[in-house]
Amino acid sequence: MQDFERAKTQIIAIMQQFVADCRNEIVNELFAKTSQGKMLRSKLLLAVSGISEEALKLCAIIELIQSASLLHDDVIDNAHTRRNSPSLNALFGNKNAIMLGDVLYAKAFFELSAYERAIAKSVSDSVCRLAVGEIEDVFMAQSFNTDKMRYLQMCELKTAALIAASAECGAILAGLDSQKYRAYGNNLGIAFQIIDDVLDITQSAETLGKPAMSDLSEGKSTLPYIYLYERANEAQRRELLSLFGIPLSQAQEQWLREHLQMYHCVQDSIAKAREYALSALDSIQDEGNTQLSKIVQNMIEREF
Ligand code: FPP
Ligand code: MG
Repeated sequence: MQDFERAKTQIIAIMQQFVADCRNEIVNELFAKTSQGKMLRSKLLLAVSGISEEALKLCAIIELIQSASLLHDDVIDNAHTRRNSPSLNALFGNKNAIMLGDVLYAKAFFELSAYERAIAKSVSDSVCRLAVGEIEDVFMAQSFNTDKMRYLQMCELKTAALIAASAECGAILAGLDSQKYRAYGNNLGIAFQIIDDVLDITQSAETLGKPAMSDLSEGKSTLPYIYLYERANEAQRRELLSLFGIPLSQAQEQWLREHLQMYHCVQDSIAKAREYALSALDSIQDEGNTQLSKIVQNMIEREF
């Protein structure tokens, strides 16, 4: 979307205004240290609804919720880097990161309350789902998860919920069939998380803006590792399980890369993401929105 760069600047300005409304210097200072990423959720919402003041404001609300969830997630994951910069918890400690998350989250809900009921319900339900997804993610880190369905359900909650709500809300604003767009966002969101988990393995720390190959150390047995577990022999399985939840040496990383490649685990994970991407396209095939098809394609082909 050509106009998206302009829209992005406008959305960030609205987010800053929302934060400034809280009238607290500490909050302003902490927020100034955060940065925005690709803003996929806003891109999606605007690609469905078109640009208007209420759509841009709703994007700012959704991006504040997304920022809040990442502030909390970095505390939960004990992550010290986000988008090639120190995370807020690394700079100011866990307490400040959690509280800034709370302020952003609460302000977003205050602004959301001005919207029609269907929109307020869609966004608030998705936040409940993403928080449940995060709990699932944390519990799944207790031991190596070998259950693909459980992993995919967690991705649907943790990541797809807010993406689905963004597409749904765009449709509600534009008076379109919101169920179709919700299904599109849901499938796109699952594909997005699978690709995210693939990139953790295939990309460098510099490209990712955070340490590479950190998922397994953080206790996340993502789809490529589940495939590896399914396909490995007994000795290899033992080796894989011994690497779960510990910091990896270079030799251990190398072992993982070799075996993931040997059993086509990355390739097949990308194929699974493509299946979800095709389902996403299927949901909106009669809607004639080429921007949404491009978003799916770019998401699958992305490198960070
Ligand atoms: C990133 O996952 C995390 C999420 C997509 C959701 C996090 C949700 C919460 C912490 C609960 C909601 C809280 C509020 C205040 C709305 P990841 O760790 O796999 O991705 P990463 O590698 O980018 O950290
Ligand atoms: Mg994380």
